[in-house]
Amino acid sequence: MPIISFHSAEFDYNMTLRPVHSFSFLSVVFLAFSLSIYLKPAFSLPTIDIANPGASKGRLIWQKYNCQSCHQLYGLGGYLGPDLTNVYAAPNKGEPLIRAMLQIGIPPMPSFNLPEEEIALLVAFLKETNASGTADPRIFLILSNGMTQRK
Ligand code: HEC
Repeated sequence: MPIISFHSAEFDYNMTLRPVHSFSFLSVVFLAFSLSIYLKPAFSLPTIDIANPGASKGRLIWQKYNCQSCHQLYGLGGYLGPDLTNVYAAPNKGEPLIRAMLQIGIPPMPSFNLPEEEIALLVAFLKETNASGTADPRIFLILSNGMTQRK
């Protein structure tokens, strides 16, 4: 009967790995790997804690006044002013300097004369940024042979 012979033809392959099996197996591995990447990035980057409302609102103030046009965070941004990633914890700087700069400025840093509410949010943002990593590229010396060395 045709049905029986069809089945016995299937069983002939029983002990060999058919291409369709390899294909299915590799597809499952590929999908599982893709899913694992979507669920957990391969390496984690420093991030701002968006659950901290002060810091995330402070980031909006940072964008509103375009601080990034003159300052860098993690080494990225404008180069007229210094990198502010770790200004919050820098010796003799920190919150008092941030407040002073935002109230009066020093040429060429403009005097923003910000209200206390915005200053407090920016301080919270820079505090959070400081906690998230160090990235001032100027901790590196560029040597005459083009290589870099930590200061
Ligand atoms: C037009 C360019 C410009 C903009 C825009 C600007 N700054 Fe500045 N800022 C500077 C310069 C230049 C300095 C360095 C002044 C000096 O020390 O002589 C500075 C210094 C600072 C300092 C002191 C840093 C240190 O290590 O001494 C802080 C804090 C600061 N700025 C915060 C901000 C914030 C926050 C904003 C956005 C609200 C901002 N700046 C916008 C140019 C700018």
